[in-house]
Amino acid sequence: MGAPKYKRIMLKLSGEALAGKNGFGIDFDVAMRIALEIKEIVEMGIEIGAVIGGGNIWRGRSGEGMDRTTADYMGMLATCINALALQDSLESIGVNTRVQTAIEMREIAEPFIRRKAMRHLEKGRIVIFGAGTGNPYFSTDTTAALRAAEIEADAILLAKKVDGVYDKDPNKYDDAKKYSKLSFIQVLEQGLQVMDSTASSLCMDNNIPIIVFGLDTPGNIKRAVLGEEIGTVVSNA
Ligand code: GTP
Repeated sequence: MGAPKYKRIMLKLSGEALAGKNGFGIDFDVAMRIALEIKEIVEMGIEIGAVIGGGNIWRGRSGEGMDRTTADYMGMLATCINALALQDSLESIGVNTRVQTAIEMREIAEPFIRRKAMRHLEKGRIVIFGAGTGNPYFSTDTTAALRAAEIEADAILLAKKVDGVYDKDPNKYDDAKKYSKLSFIQVLEQGLQVMDSTASSLCMDNNIPIIVFGLDTPGNIKRAVLGEEIGTVVSNA
């Protein structure tokens, strides 16, 4: 096995990833599969920050006619539920974790304190960041980009349902072409659906590469950490 390419990573999981085939809620078999994959890379000495979306519980934008900020706060709460579920799965297999939330809920989890998060990472604990950035109008992709910059992560591992970035929707078009490498400028100019533009520009400005890959293929998290060519790498190079 080669040496890991990255020492400290930000792992971004979509909430839907936890839903498994149900498409809603949390499938604990799936959560455990993800936890076991994460455990493998912890054991390689990789330091891991993690952000999970909340789409398996609440999709803000589907709340038609709803106040946007309220819908976004509901989404932030959904990410906290997912953070606790992932924490539980990881700790049940002996992986040390800490959940830190951007909105204080001290009875449930630690508040986000960057310096404390850094210490946890140095001690080999996975820090799961809940409640987004704590602000409406920001996605969990943006949270991942922001926290990645704050914890000085070497890369963002963006685990998705699709296995990379395509020139058009691969679910709709048979001739959709997958990119193996892209620059942030290409992503922004062509409006490619990697992350939202706020998150992409944050990564571009702070020079944090993003590796986009499919979570459904077992072993992909480890492959991404080893720098194997899976999915799409978005960077300034
Ligand atoms: P060290 O600084 O390395 O000792 O880190 P630590 O996280 O083990 O120390 P600490 O004594 O701060 O935390 C012990 C436990 O309490 C951990 O499981 C933390 O997640 C938890 N904890 C710490 N602060 C808070 C808080 O504000 N709220 C909640 N709910 N738990 C907390």
